Amino acid sequence: MSSHQDFTPKPVEKNIRNTYRWLEDRLPILSFLSDALVTYPAPRNLNYMWNFGSLAGIALVLQILTGIFLAMHYKGDVNLAFDSIQHIMRDVQWGWLIRNLHMVGASFFFIVVYIHMARGLYYGSYKSPREVLWGLGVIIFLLMMATAFMGYVLPWGQMSYWGATVITNLLSVIPFIGKYVVVWLWGGYSVGDPTLTRFYAFHFVLPFVIIGVVVLHLWALHLHRSNNPVGIDLKRAKDYIPFHPYYTIKDTFGLGVYLIPFTLMVFFLPEYLGHPDNYIPANPMVTPAHIVPEWYFLPFYAILRAIPIKEIGVAAMFGSILVLFFLPWLDSSPVRSARFRPLYKQIYWLFLINFVVLGWCGANPPEGMFVIIARVATVLYFSFFALLPVLARYEKTKPLPATI
Ligand code: HEM
Repeated sequence: MSSHQDFTPKPVEKNIRNTYRWLEDRLPILSFLSDALVTYPAPRNLNYMWNFGSLAGIALVLQILTGIFLAMHYKGDVNLAFDSIQHIMRDVQWGWLIRNLHMVGASFFFIVVYIHMARGLYYGSYKSPREVLWGLGVIIFLLMMATAFMGYVLPWGQMSYWGATVITNLLSVIPFIGKYVVVWLWGGYSVGDPTLTRFYAFHFVLPFVIIGVVVLHLWALHLHRSNNPVGIDLKRAKDYIPFHPYYTIKDTFGLGVYLIPFTLMVFFLPEYLGHPDNYIPANPMVTPAHIVPEWYFLPFYAILRAIPIKEIGVAAMFGSILVLFFLPWLDSSPVRSARFRPLYKQIYWLFLINFVVLGWCGANPPEGMFVIIARVATVLYFSFFALLPVLARYEKTKPLPATI
């Protein structure tokens, strides 16, 4: 043994650096995260509308975390489900908080994602080369709707039961095989215990599928980088800034602002966006006076009911979402941002107002003036997409700046 051996401990930094290099050599996950969250070159002119992507990610993680804790006490059995929710609200330590966070969190997740989509629509973020990024977003949106729909069935209240009955029955319009598909989906001849159990299984697993699609969404985003409010391609290095610290701080600030209305709702108005009938246990013998889905489905529900022929109503409802996939090709205008598209800007705002009007119709019984308004609004909804190719050809756009 040499008497010159150095026994002084290595500096901590050196150890960390060595461990980092060791891991990098085997799994470069840390540099991958750093590329995504620290050095990612973000356009330097992003406004607050670009906060909603990261907020959506946080909302998704919160849903998964609170969902896992709820699953520890929930019972996916028609004889126990309703009471297990009451047990969570009354007996489980902090159960009321976990459930309120999950319930209000679902609504806020949809608010955030609707704003995120409206931002993309305004600034033309769906256009080339971001078509796949947009398409993956539409897939996420569909998965979110499926997850939320099945989640709402789990408390097994009157709206859970009747909402599930009405919506699953829609599939009976599929030619020839429709009624078999519905029986297969129910796992019986009506919505019942097998339906609840499978909805619980899907409701648990789909958010993880969403996480997977979000990873693809971010991969596609990082390939061509973010669009920006001006909508032009950025060529100079000085048009970009590293994501950290500029946007990590901005996103954290945005999160703080978001948490104000969110926590107010969680603590003071947790039931505001829900329906009181869902506190009556499911009863297949009593149909509620009005069956209404959760608020975020209302515009699509209005389209369904606006059309008196059931088959066409169902096709229009699904079509109103699927048409989003084709948006990048329907709108062939080379100019992305609505700032430079005077006509597009107008029909964009009309489209958003019309979407809210559809939601209002969906919340009301399909009678009298609501039927008329819903029909006009449905025509206007689809007219937006039909107008886009024409607009691209005839619209006189404003001159684009060379740089930002
Ligand atoms: C779980 C839901 C979602 C998450 C976590 C998510 C996450 C993100 C993030 C972090 C960004 C980058 C930051 C930003 O631009 O705001 C982004 C960009 C984008 N997302 Fe999403 N997203 C979700 C849903 C959607 C949906 C439903 C759509 C559209 C149907 C969509 C379309 C887009 C587009 C087009 C961009 C690029 C925006 C640009 O660069 O201008 N996303 N998303």
